[in-house]
Amino acid sequence: MGSLDSAAYPHDTARVMGRVTAGKLVRGTAVVLAALNTMGCLKRKEPADPSAAPSTTQGAQVPQSSTPAPSNKDYTAVMALPSLAKKWEADFDIGTAVEPNHLTDMPQVLTHHFNRLTAENQMKLGPLCQMRVCNYAKADQIADFARKNGMRMSGHTFVWHQMQPGWFFQDGGKATTKEVIDQRLKDHIFEMTKRYADVVDNWDVVNEAISDSPGKTYRDGDEGSPWFKAYGGPEYIKAAFQHAAAAAAAHDPTVKLYYNDYNIVLPEKRKKVIEMVRWLRSQGVRVDGVGEQGHWNIEWPSGPDIAAAIDELAAEKLEVKISELDISIYAKDDHGAKKWQPEMEFTPELQDKLAARYAEVFKVFHEKASVLSQITFWGISDDRTWLNTWPLSRRNDPLLLDRNHQPKAAFKAILEL
Ligand code: GLA
Repeated sequence: MGSLDSAAYPHDTARVMGRVTAGKLVRGTAVVLAALNTMGCLKRKEPADPSAAPSTTQGAQVPQSSTPAPSNKDYTAVMALPSLAKKWEADFDIGTAVEPNHLTDMPQVLTHHFNRLTAENQMKLGPLCQMRVCNYAKADQIADFARKNGMRMSGHTFVWHQMQPGWFFQDGGKATTKEVIDQRLKDHIFEMTKRYADVVDNWDVVNEAISDSPGKTYRDGDEGSPWFKAYGGPEYIKAAFQHAAAAAAAHDPTVKLYYNDYNIVLPEKRKKVIEMVRWLRSQGVRVDGVGEQGHWNIEWPSGPDIAAAIDELAAEKLEVKISELDISIYAKDDHGAKKWQPEMEFTPELQDKLAARYAEVFKVFHEKASVLSQITFWGISDDRTWLNTWPLSRRNDPLLLDRNHQPKAAFKAILEL
């Protein structure tokens, strides 16, 4: 491998994602640190120590997974549980996001409880192509694991305003033309569609292109989108879906093309997503589905709000997936004011509350199963979740296995529904 592109990930530390009323999830900065953390690149301390994380864009540009020793955790309890994927197979697939280290640490957990995988980071443009020559080794490792074990994959993601290499938008150190970028994007989409045609059955063609600011539909250059900036507007979204449809026609006619975002449960954000889908379709551009990421918390959103969001998307003749489910134990953060709830212990009461909350959302998913293609968790165990470092370094317990990889009450609750 050559030297790193010094402009890699220029937008990672500048993630500005608008605001929502207090108590609801709003996304802010430092997602790259979370990515580095879940990839195993940061030292893990409990609670996470901010000084362990690179504090500059420069320092954050090398998201290479370390290869940790296989886990020495005891998986007897989790393997004794009935399969989560089998429990829900009549309704939808059950997926999880993985890094390569999950494949060596807990392969049996993956194949027993899940029938679908998403590469948490390794199919994103930045990690794949931080050099001008892309390196598919880690993405291939995940795809090969899925192939070998008869699992399906969700492809994540062709276009995002974060985690992309600086060179993609430049030539000779200067901003390059829209035409050059568009050709690079097309080549990338064709390569990925072809390479993973046998295992990826849906792609997040575009991720998080909608603005959270009132009165503004699309995330623009000011909100950190190099795509919007380079194309001079939301035309890049159209280009990406057009390239994806052409790549699908050439390599994988059955693959589904999705738009993916967070907070689509909020009516004002959903309205913009639907406006975008209608705009694309009015020009003959194919969009098959919408993914609600599902980065929720222990109180928000309500079951009826989740149901309403799914219904409204389905009414647009869209498939729906929950693509990145995790349920934070912190419901009182005020993202607008950047005021965060102090770290909490995961008490037995909280354990029960989280279990009830997972049961509540899965009841809604069950009712809406006819339009839901998959429920994918954003990770497996609480020691490896981006929420330990976002929106700040603070212990969180959002997933189904605890830090010791033992099944939580939430796991049992959704098996027993
Ligand atoms: C967004 C992205 C994911 C991931 C999370 C944070 O939701 O879509 O790929 O980076 O942020 O872990």
